Amino acid sequence: MSILPERIRQAALHAQSALADESTPFVRNAWYVAALAGEVGRQALARRLLGVPVLLFRKLDGSAVALEDRCAHRSFPLSRGTIDGDTVVCGYHGARYGGDGRCTGVPSQAQVPPGAMVRSFPLHESGALLWIWLGDPALADPAALPQQPWMDDPAWVSSTDRLHLKASYVRLHENLLDLTHLSFLHANTFGTPDYASAPFEARVDEAAGRFSLHRSVSPTRLPPLWALPTGLDGVDAARVVTSTFHSPALHVVGVKFHALDRPEAEQPSRAIRTAHIVTPETATSTHYFIQHARNFAIDDAAVTDFMHEQLLKAFQEDVDGLEAIETLLGGYGERQPEISFHADKASLAMRRHLKQRADAEAGR
Ligand code: FES
Ligand SMILES: [Fe+2]
Repeated sequence: MSILPERIRQAALHAQSALADESTPFVRNAWYVAALAGEVGRQALARRLLGVPVLLFRKLDGSAVALEDRCAHRSFPLSRGTIDGDTVVCGYHGARYGGDGRCTGVPSQAQVPPGAMVRSFPLHESGALLWIWLGDPALADPAALPQQPWMDDPAWVSSTDRLHLKASYVRLHENLLDLTHLSFLHANTFGTPDYASAPFEARVDEAAGRFSLHRSVSPTRLPPLWALPTGLDGVDAARVVTSTFHSPALHVVGVKFHALDRPEAEQPSRAIRTAHIVTPETATSTHYFIQHARNFAIDDAAVTDFMHEQLLKAFQEDVDGLEAIETLLGGYGERQPEISFHADKASLAMRRHLKQRADAEAGR
């Protein structure tokens, strides 16, 4: 029995019905990251993406292939078979498939039966990332890749990693769009107490499907993660943060830092950008890839290592928090009402956008 008056409870649930959550079908007509480029080689890599079992490997010429990881014969995972040249050999009864997904041979008979094929998915390799299109192949346009120019720009030195999240990808986007939680969930890593109450501005562009939250924390003292590499330790500084949802697969958090004792224009640029690359695995689990970059101390590998290690510790706090929510809600068996705050404005618009795209794909 809810303690909310029934009228408020119903209104909250009604408003939520227009928002994406873990029960909303995936947006399929979009590019997602299947893997970091370095993860895919001559061994089969099995990964579930948007609910689909996918097998990834590289052909002899180095180009990557993505096939549905389910043999057309009796559904044996092809990733448990072997790669022979540019061919996958099923580990159950030996059917052979080319990189285009067509069966080229069945050992127990002379002819390949009609319809013996598995889906082959469009891939696009760019920089550190291998993008996949799991929707209508006719719509797979590389010009629509959400990858941002800085992600391949040598002026930005970056490191990559992969986390696994046992929670809906919608929760991860929502977490990234409102960083109020830095003061609480990340109190022991990169949050500061003044973060949550700093002024913010939501920027909503429904037509472009772009949603941002901009926040300026000033004056502030930077946590060691940012203070040490920027040289802004122990001084009054500004921390200016913009989180942007670019696509169901990509969220970018950009931060600029400067000292307050002299004009910003007289200081070297000190900025970091983190691509939070989000690929749903199942309704309640997500592949969470990271590309973290900075435009200062770009030749200093020790700074890269320090920031990477500290950031991963902080992102693990998000993973733990979101998994706790997913586990808690999973026990109810019915949708629970959520009461939103002003800082949720961009994330509510983003969740409406995801729901509308999923509905449009489903023809509703
Ligand atoms: S399940 Fe693959 S050949 Fe039989
Ligand atoms: Fe976080």
